[in-house]
Amino acid sequence: MITLGIETSCDETALALIETRGKESGTEVRVINSLVHSQADLHAPYGGVFPTLAKREHGKNLVPLLEKILVDTEKLGSSNFDQVISSFESELKASNPDLFESISNAEFLKVIPKIDRIAVTQGPGLEPALWVGINFSKILSKLWNVPLIPVNHMEGHILGSLLESDANKGQWQKLYELKAPSIALLISGGHTEIIKINSIGNYEILGQTKDDAVGEAFDKTARLLGLPYPGGRALSELAEKARQEGIVPTIKLPRPMINSGDLNFSFSGLKTAVLYTTKKIGQLSESIKKEIALEFENAVTETMESKVRKAIEETSAKSLFVGGGVSANISLRKKFKQIAEEYGIPIYLPTLHISGDNALMIALVGALHGEPSKIPPTLKASGTMRLAEIS
Ligand code: KG4
Ligand code: ZN
Repeated sequence: MITLGIETSCDETALALIETRGKESGTEVRVINSLVHSQADLHAPYGGVFPTLAKREHGKNLVPLLEKILVDTEKLGSSNFDQVISSFESELKASNPDLFESISNAEFLKVIPKIDRIAVTQGPGLEPALWVGINFSKILSKLWNVPLIPVNHMEGHILGSLLESDANKGQWQKLYELKAPSIALLISGGHTEIIKINSIGNYEILGQTKDDAVGEAFDKTARLLGLPYPGGRALSELAEKARQEGIVPTIKLPRPMINSGDLNFSFSGLKTAVLYTTKKIGQLSESIKKEIALEFENAVTETMESKVRKAIEETSAKSLFVGGGVSANISLRKKFKQIAEEYGIPIYLPTLHISGDNALMIALVGALHGEPSKIPPTLKASGTMRLAEIS
């Protein structure tokens, strides 16, 4: 079965094509291609993702990416291109002119490629951005007469870690075996959640942030240190330099909610503590910046460590998943590996490509989904969609 994944929840326009065979834990996957077009540079001057700009860019980028990803697919015949496009005209021309224009000129869509299903991110994310992918997927589903599977982006960040390799034109690979119950830690720019996985598609949120997401705290702290947006990675590189130079932080930052007795997080106080610290110091030297970066990363790592240990113990977890953009952080990865080893359980960490936003994880969730319902779903962008809330 060949699945096309579509992801437009934030500032990455992404498409992926995978082939799967077998079912559930026995599923084997072959990555055909996974393309990500990042808009990060365009949003950087705004210090965050600007939704209207993200929407316009997705509208412009999706069709060229699709043409590229379909190049080597087997072709099945002609599509009802003119008829389908005109049936979407009244709905799309005004609401999404960039997408409509680009799709109306896409000659390659007059031929049907061999694709069996389409998986699209329904939420959570920025609604104007999500709608672009959803509208695009609806047109393709009609053009190619294939079912459409709505996917929760966060489920993508979990199950994406079951892939050992993201190599394009890759070999057949068996997914890692999901040993349940399992604990998943989702850490990104918009989320910080601890989830209990009972089985694929059956999740319970055990804890989450009460305010800022951990990636947001990384980005805001990076900004206070004068690093460009999104600063998570640059901040962690600074912390790593400090570690290598043997710097021992004298500046102390809080470990918010570390003793709260539950599995929730809070990061806004940590960011405020950095703000006060930097204000008090005034001019920040390079070595002070390194020291703050290291202390900040230590505070995040220690908080995460304590919650993850608690979650593993309380649920007798048999495996640990980590996903989301912040899971690219080297120091956190090291710590989670050490924890899993201590408890004697496997850890599933995403590859670098899968830790950021991508459509490979969306295609995978779509492929692992059971038979699509006979009645096509009414897709609607859901900015705050929770796990297990597919409608
Ligand atoms: O999952 P993601 O690509 O987008 C969503 O938020 O959904 O995550 C992006 C977040 C940003 O806050 C970014 O600064 C952070 O992940 N990030 C990192 C690292 N690489 C990316 N944070 C800490 N250390 C890193 N190496
Ligand atoms: Zn994400």
